[in-house]
Amino acid sequence: MTPEPENRETLTITDNRNGKSYEVPIENGTIKAPDLRKIKTGPEDFGIMTYDPAYMNTASCKSTITFIDGDKGILEYRGYPIAELAEKTSFLETAWLILNGELPTKEQYKAWVDEITVHTMVHENITSVLQSFRYDAHPMAMLASSVAALSTFYPEAKQVHDPEVRRMQIVRLIAKTPTLAAFAYRHSIGFPFAYPDNDLSFAGNFLQMMYRTAEPKYTPNPILEKALDVLFILHADHEQNCSTSAMRAVGSSEVDPYCAASAAVSALYGPLHGGANEAVLRMLKGIGSKDHVPAFVKDVKESGGDVKLMGFGHRVYKNYDPRAKILKQMADQVFGVTGRNPLLDIALELERIALEDDYFIKRKLYPNVDFYSGLIYQAMKFPVDMFPVLFAIGRMAGWLAQWNEMIQDKDQKIARPRQVYLGYRDRSFVPFDRRG
Ligand code: ACO
Repeated sequence: MTPEPENRETLTITDNRNGKSYEVPIENGTIKAPDLRKIKTGPEDFGIMTYDPAYMNTASCKSTITFIDGDKGILEYRGYPIAELAEKTSFLETAWLILNGELPTKEQYKAWVDEITVHTMVHENITSVLQSFRYDAHPMAMLASSVAALSTFYPEAKQVHDPEVRRMQIVRLIAKTPTLAAFAYRHSIGFPFAYPDNDLSFAGNFLQMMYRTAEPKYTPNPILEKALDVLFILHADHEQNCSTSAMRAVGSSEVDPYCAASAAVSALYGPLHGGANEAVLRMLKGIGSKDHVPAFVKDVKESGGDVKLMGFGHRVYKNYDPRAKILKQMADQVFGVTGRNPLLDIALELERIALEDDYFIKRKLYPNVDFYSGLIYQAMKFPVDMFPVLFAIGRMAGWLAQWNEMIQDKDQKIARPRQVYLGYRDRSFVPFDRRG
């Protein structure tokens, strides 16, 4: 007869190499990896480690910022559902929530907006940094470099254990990232930089810095301004994704947040992460017309993983990405102003066919946030190269909240994973004349 379970929050592990048993505590559904180190066959044995490339099943921190249930398609910031935040708040209100844990009061919100607004300007020397790039430099690489360059203007940012210093750099990074992003774009088209306009909203000012030409006052279209603000909200945080993990890992060395954020921007640049919406557009253009969709889907399925349906699939979501749902609805409002993006028909057909196809159903591959964001950005006249940059503007709030949480977390130390070493050992040196 099987013995009755004892209801203890522990896990008993039996080492079949020697029959010894060990009991390790379970806390929040996890066991502590260092607890496994006591499982050894002798004093020389290092002890058991877990092997988890890409951190598929390893929690690297405790966090109270963002909740995701990937199977149910739920995303919440500080407990508030993403759809409600997208509908009822502004990006800066959501950024405050993410950073501080609660929605701001009216007074807090006003002070926060004022503070961000007066910090949008960058030191004039930063413009020389940007101007030194080649005319065709990718704006995401320019953003990564110029965010790191901010570190040289604020040497006090190194004092990462001082809460007021941290707060100040958070304000600067959120305020200045759109300015750097727009300047990178203006450089790439050979236009003079358009300086911030403090009369405009966060999103409106960004559109102004991007698109103002000779007019003395730029007035953003309110529908596009709102849409961009929603896009920033949808991208504001997504718990321990690749770029956030980069922010935390680099920040764990106690480098200043500008250098850590530059690493996060670099991580986001990759085509499997923030570069995916750029890849979606290239893919849709490559498909060319609705009629070619079935052949493309066939190629994806027969490629053995080499050809991906970009904008589909997610490490965490095994259901429709809730952000993609909001964007699909928002697309109509934006296209009402800009005219319909002809690639939308190809995207809708791709989605229709993929969602009915066994290959995608079996692997739980659904549209992610990047599937529709690129179409909206393109309709708003953002060049494809700017897509990951727009993502970075919103995500800066999340990176900083996660960094701030990490710095104050007593469990955290400098990030330093282990490895399973499988190479040679203890070899004798071979001089050139005896090497094969
Ligand atoms: N198209 C076709 N097949 C796919 C796709 C896709 N987009 N994504 C995953 N698969 C397949 C894989 O080939 C694999 O098949 P197999 O079991 O036959 O080998 C299976 O689905 C599981 O995929 P993994 O690669 O193990 O999933 P993982 O969690 O490692 O990858 C990722 C997630 C990187 C997002 C992946 O789905 C992908 O490359 N998608 C396309 C790029 C993209 O849209 N990225 C944006 C992500 S959202 C964001 O960063 C904001």
